[in-house]
Amino acid sequence: MQRGKFITLEGVDGAGKSTHLPFITELLKSSGHETVVTREPGGTPLGERLRELLLHEAMHPETETLLMFAARREHIDKVILPALERGAWVLSDRFTDASFAYQYGGRGVSKDKIKTMENWVQGNLQPDLTLLFDVPVSVSCQRLAGARDPDRFERENAAFFKRIRAAYQERASSFPARFRIIDSSQSLESIRKVLEDIFISI
Ligand code: TYD
Repeated sequence: MQRGKFITLEGVDGAGKSTHLPFITELLKSSGHETVVTREPGGTPLGERLRELLLHEAMHPETETLLMFAARREHIDKVILPALERGAWVLSDRFTDASFAYQYGGRGVSKDKIKTMENWVQGNLQPDLTLLFDVPVSVSCQRLAGARDPDRFERENAAFFKRIRAAYQERASSFPARFRIIDSSQSLESIRKVLEDIFISI
């Protein structure tokens, strides 16, 4: 059985990743692959409980990092690896690039500590493809301003999101082979075309 592909979606809050998730899911399904759609933090019953804490409970930035990776450990064991091993394709709404972007870029947690956690929790597992939805922070913040019930991250200021965007861009330049940056200030139609082209070629 050929191992499935692991695809992750990333971007600052308000960059439009959630808008495109259903379209990407359909693209994968229509190519005939069993597709598992999941998210972080979350993706397992325990992970979803940790997500509630992470999104709503004040905590030290390193506690936040540790809980993100605790949820991830569970997610890899219970969902991601079993699916990849049976040949399914896994589409995860966020993964470890978000820890580098938010906990290192946003909160200032040491990059080395995050790398240590990454090695511990993931071993050799890395996404095969990461779609980074990228927009200027003025645009994403404007979109967030309309959100009804912002969580602990969405309530942060523009400077926080600028650091996150920069950290994502740094990740994309460090791993050019797996990242595709999608200019998310384009129209929905243009973005769909870009996504179709990406999925035709993988
Ligand atoms: P998000 O993916 O934006 O979900 P929704 O679209 O439902 O709001 O929410 C998850 C939040 O968690 C987001 O603000 C980013 C944050 N996050 C981290 O800070 N570090 C991580 O490692 C992950 C996976 C997410």
